[in-house]
Amino acid sequence: MATVNDTTILIFGASGDLTSRKLIPALFRLSQQQYLSEKCPIIGVARRPKSHDEFRTEMKETVRARVGAEKFDDAAWEIFAKQLFYQQLDISNSAEYTGLNKSTSEIEASLGGSEHSTRVVYMATTPDLFAPAVEGLHEAGMIPPREEDSRLRVVVEKPFGRDLKSAQELTVQLARRLQESQIYRIDHYLGKETVQNILLFRFGNAIFEPLLNRNHVDHIQITVAESQGMEGARGGYYDTSGAMRDVLQNHVLQLLCLIAMDPPSLFQAREIRDEKMKVLQALRPGNSGPIGNWAIRGQYSAGLVDRQPALAYREEQRVSPTSNRETYVAMRVALDNWRWAGVPFYLRTGKRLPKQLTEVAIQFKNPPLNLFSTVECDGDLCDLVETRPNQLILRIQPQEAISLRFSTKRPGMNYQVQPVSMDFAYDEHFDAQLPEAYERLLLDVMRGDSTLFTRSDELEAAWRFVTPILEAWEGSSSAPEFYPAGTWGPAAADRLISDSKALWRAPR
Ligand code: BG6
Repeated sequence: MATVNDTTILIFGASGDLTSRKLIPALFRLSQQQYLSEKCPIIGVARRPKSHDEFRTEMKETVRARVGAEKFDDAAWEIFAKQLFYQQLDISNSAEYTGLNKSTSEIEASLGGSEHSTRVVYMATTPDLFAPAVEGLHEAGMIPPREEDSRLRVVVEKPFGRDLKSAQELTVQLARRLQESQIYRIDHYLGKETVQNILLFRFGNAIFEPLLNRNHVDHIQITVAESQGMEGARGGYYDTSGAMRDVLQNHVLQLLCLIAMDPPSLFQAREIRDEKMKVLQALRPGNSGPIGNWAIRGQYSAGLVDRQPALAYREEQRVSPTSNRETYVAMRVALDNWRWAGVPFYLRTGKRLPKQLTEVAIQFKNPPLNLFSTVECDGDLCDLVETRPNQLILRIQPQEAISLRFSTKRPGMNYQVQPVSMDFAYDEHFDAQLPEAYERLLLDVMRGDSTLFTRSDELEAAWRFVTPILEAWEGSSSAPEFYPAGTWGPAAADRLISDSKALWRAPR
């Protein structure tokens, strides 16, 4: 893959966590792997005064701490550091942008870049600064004329609004100055290697795809489980957001789109996003009646995670002690289309669950006739063992893998059923470490490939679906159902899936 040349990256919000934890490490790796030329300036932009060298030292310390001093490549960093710069700016003050434009051009010229290089502005800031920043860029003449619009790309981080209305307002504000093709809405899940592999697995093989429909699939479970709670000061943000806005509305619905979409006619941004959009348009409640029949919420109480005591959510730093914010969501949803009519999709995400785990589990129907069942006894205890439904499990993280579960005959004189699994594990097949999501996504923005970014209509469709649920929860005075930290969520989630005579998977 070609090295990116002639591109300037401006990171707005350079003193924030995202910059030091994700963006600079990802850019450093891209530079080490020669994807990013030494001529591409990376300019950290934030309010505090700081010299270029101070910024470089700060970034070096955090990246070194992240990769570990023994693995940190000092020589490579010295090369990379030469392309790191810092510019002080009050992002909300459009009068200051002329200075930004001038110093950016000077930095570009100092690295030998051309006057017509592409600029990527990464908004690693709070969303209230997105619109003022775009206004500032406009006033300083940093937004190129329409015929050259690909020379400026603006990356925005979630949250893209809090509900349908605010997301629509944000879209309108950005569209005042930018073309949709210039806006890259990042959902880092789409940058994960194993998430991208869902498409290759489905549409690059002939034998699985014919099975993925209502004729063969009993139900699908999508899980994004996290064992962590409110690390650091995260509670402040989370208590205004919750599991639905933080993870379900974006990461989980994106996984749903990828597993349920029809094959695109071309492997290109527009065709892929059109197919994802059709999934979101077909999304419906999984049961009739009130929202509680198909969408439930929970909040963790004190418990044990990894045998360590964990605080209740309401006791976490910067969380209201009477908070009704959900830290867990489970839903039964349906897709009203020919492929998936009648197949329930169970979605769940939560904090302080027993382990970190993201997976898509496709459970197939039982064979039409059960020919094999055996009675197995352990002392006086006897069990009827039957063939189990086949399962195809796409393990997104950690221990990235794909497994196919099926029944086999246990060697012996009788027909005894034994469930087994055929596994493909990434780390057994590939030596290379999987690239970090941000590496891939940053490279895509620089190359102008928007396939793995969310389009405004997708975003709106996702908000359209979840907003009524949020309104119902936020308008109610009742608390979410509590679950002890370190367990798989509230009992209501189990009742939800029992409609399908199924259980949530609880991998160890
Ligand atoms: C982020 C959420 O978008 O995704 C976090 O804001 C969550 O709350 C994170 O922990 C999960 O991402 P990953 O890559 O760690 O699974």
